[in-house]
Amino acid sequence: MSRRRGLLRLTTYVTASRGRLVLVFGAAALASAIQVGGWFLVRDAVDHGMKARDETRLLVDVIAYVAVNAAAWVVGAFTVRGLAAVGQGIVLELRRHLFGHLTTLSLRYFSQTKAGWLIARLTSDIDALSDVLSEGLRNLVGNAITFVVAVVALLAIDWRLGLVALCVMPPSIAFARWFQVRSSVAFGDVRTRIAAVTAGMAESLAGMAVIQAFNRERHFQATFDELNMANRKANFHAQTLWSVFFPGIELFGVAATAAVLWVGANLHGSGSTSIGTLIAFIGLLNLLFQPLQELSELYGQVQSAAAAMIKIVSVLDTEPDIASRPGARVLPRIEGRIDLDAVTFSYGAEPVLRAIDLHVPAGGCLALVGESGGGKSTTAKLMARFYDPDPGHGTVRVDGVDLREVELRGFRRQLGVVLQDPFLFSGTIADNLRFAKPDASDTEVEEVARAIGIDVVAARLDGGLAHVVREGGSGLSAGERQLISIGRALLADPRVLILDEATSNIDRPTEVLIERALDRLLHGRTSLIIAHRLSTVRRADEIVVIDHGRIAQRGTYTALLAVDGPFRRLAHDLGGTLR
Ligand SMILES: Nc1ncnc2c1ncn2[C@@H]1O[C@H](COP(=O)(O)OP(=O)(O)O)[C@@H](O)[C@H]1O
Ligand SMILES: [Mg+2]
Repeated sequence: MSRRRGLLRLTTYVTASRGRLVLVFGAAALASAIQVGGWFLVRDAVDHGMKARDETRLLVDVIAYVAVNAAAWVVGAFTVRGLAAVGQGIVLELRRHLFGHLTTLSLRYFSQTKAGWLIARLTSDIDALSDVLSEGLRNLVGNAITFVVAVVALLAIDWRLGLVALCVMPPSIAFARWFQVRSSVAFGDVRTRIAAVTAGMAESLAGMAVIQAFNRERHFQATFDELNMANRKANFHAQTLWSVFFPGIELFGVAATAAVLWVGANLHGSGSTSIGTLIAFIGLLNLLFQPLQELSELYGQVQSAAAAMIKIVSVLDTEPDIASRPGARVLPRIEGRIDLDAVTFSYGAEPVLRAIDLHVPAGGCLALVGESGGGKSTTAKLMARFYDPDPGHGTVRVDGVDLREVELRGFRRQLGVVLQDPFLFSGTIADNLRFAKPDASDTEVEEVARAIGIDVVAARLDGGLAHVVREGGSGLSAGERQLISIGRALLADPRVLILDEATSNIDRPTEVLIERALDRLLHGRTSLIIAHRLSTVRRADEIVVIDHGRIAQRGTYTALLAVDGPFRRLAHDLGGTLR
């Protein structure tokens, strides 16, 4: 997408507040006109007050000059406030859209897109837009109007001097243009470099324990130093451009002033212009060159904003690939029969599941076992419709209805999922249990906690159920996290329960708790359990061994142990534990 189209997209947000903008533009024009008008008072003070020794006129002019500029200040403040309100309103709306859209995107998107990259969209890109929308918009409106009004005033006050001053404009504009192009490249570079620094920092922070364990601190420091130096260099280059540009434009201003003085002095000598005109003229020249400086600064900002907008739009335009289609079927309370028919699924080019058939009757319990990487978690995710089967390669159905035809929220409401790596949110244990059912009463929460033994774990922790969990659950053991995530799924009383390796990584006492809770947990609902302990899978009605994306063996626990096959080997290799 081109920068122009990125900016065009921004205008759809701007038009929402066009009424306010018209008002603000009007005010800005007024402020500029007042400012310019002040110099006419100066001319009058010099030509008619001073030279004619008319004290009253001089006093009136001077007071009017102050009053007029005070008025310009008030109107200017109104303009700045108005533009800030419009700008920040747009930023708010854009950030809301962006976050809202992210929540509709699928797991596939998030596994392909780095979190750091997305965070940059919500922070530095939005900041770039924010700069342009509040600061930049004010700059554009104020300076563009001032520039035009100043040109008109200069020609009106004395057209000959006006033409002299305007002669300096073409080279000044060419110089500003040179700066714009160079600075746009330079600031683009600055943005890329700082993004690299942030990304490098984010990755290192996430992997700090590994860096320290393998003595790689120095290497990471060196890599970071490189990124940091590159950033410094890019910034330095950009600042150098500024250092040339700002005094440069001022020099053009000086040249214009000199030319006007020279020609003006001659005109005055021949009696065809007044001293007052000359003074007002030189004052007005300032209003010509300052906008040129500031507008050039804006150009760089607009370029960054356009680049930021392109990236933001690329997120906003990502179609959610997992969504309820229009008119999707809203499921009533489901029985909970799950069928996978000839499901083939791939993350990339190679299928990780090939023609899988699974059937779990309502209220039944199916256990999936197999070597790591076989496709168990993927199967669980297909059942929860985090992914769809490859197009034309099989269906996943609930109560006989294809999941792709089903209204997603209503389905997920009846689904309890415990993922392999459970995530807890910052808040208390009770808050986390209530996650899927925010209006659950204290009694309900305590009941669930008791049923699966969270109360025993909580008793060990500071504050019991009110113990505060840090984001991600980093203060808890893996087993404790898993137990809480099971409670979270259970509290919502789902019809279908999916437990992915709910008893892996678990300390023995916690495991006993979960084992004890499982029967109660699974009673009366359909369940898929992915597990590696014989004691866990024993309770399943059917056990399916998955190997390299295919079903290697299926049957009841006793039947599978009775024959020499994959299941018995799995059981044997691990001395009673399946992995
Ligand atoms: N998000 C993903 N993107 C790409 N490949 C993946 C992703 N998740 C899993 N895989 C691959 O799919 C295969 C099955 O993985 P998974 O279902 O997690 O196996 P299991 O749960 O049986 O250990 C593996 O080869 C794994 O590398
Ligand atoms: Mg897995």
